[in-house]
Amino acid sequence: MEKTKKDQLLERVKKAGNYNDILVNGEIIVKGGECRQRLDVIKKYVSKGNKVLDVGSHSGYFAIELARIGADVLSIENNKELADVQIFLSGENNVKVDVMLRELNLKTFYPIIGYKKFDVILLLNVVHYWGENITEMLEKLRDIGKKIIIEFPRPYETEAIYNPLVVKLSPFEKYLKKIFGEVELLATTPSPNNKDKLRNIFLCQK
Ligand SMILES: C[S@@+](CC[C@H](N)C(=O)[O-])C[C@H]1O[C@@H](n2cnc3c(N)ncnc32)[C@H](O)[C@@H]1O
Repeated sequence: MEKTKKDQLLERVKKAGNYNDILVNGEIIVKGGECRQRLDVIKKYVSKGNKVLDVGSHSGYFAIELARIGADVLSIENNKELADVQIFLSGENNVKVDVMLRELNLKTFYPIIGYKKFDVILLLNVVHYWGENITEMLEKLRDIGKKIIIEFPRPYETEAIYNPLVVKLSPFEKYLKKIFGEVELLATTPSPNNKDKLRNIFLCQK
């Protein structure tokens, strides 16, 4: 990667943060929290040509790596700095990701999603941002996605307990079963916030 482009990228990442690795064509430009193991799990459920929705996509690590294997990715992120990093990174990685700088919530759901349907929806460490609307949001997403992959903090992760929902919805698998019917625990991988704590990744289907 040429020096000026790299400097521009580093400047953007400095503002936006590096929750996940910042990757350009296989080279880690800035190391983030654990993401490789999570990607390896998720990749098994995404094929070339699949329509993928990534909600709360941060700097686009998953969106870009899934676009690299040929998925058609819509990436929604409500933080401008992060959305900018994604757009920049998609260009540097020579992949096409449709990045939308929007907050997905009950009000914006239909204006953003319309009648689109997806093969895979990624809801990685984002559903607790919906607060008390979490169930209604998950029901809406259930109706537009064949496979929904959800990662959620566990109550023992004290950093996550700032959000009372993490405790209230525990055990989360049981909560998800009520909404989706079919729920499979795909993996338990290190939390991006703290590699000593583990988080569960679930596959939900109607
Ligand atoms: C904890 S990070 C998770 C990032 C990524 N999904 C992962 O697990 O590696 C949550 C991200 O979701 C974004 N976010 C939170 N609520 C959102 C919403 N309603 N619509 C779009 N983005 C949202 C935040 O700005 C942040 O980038």
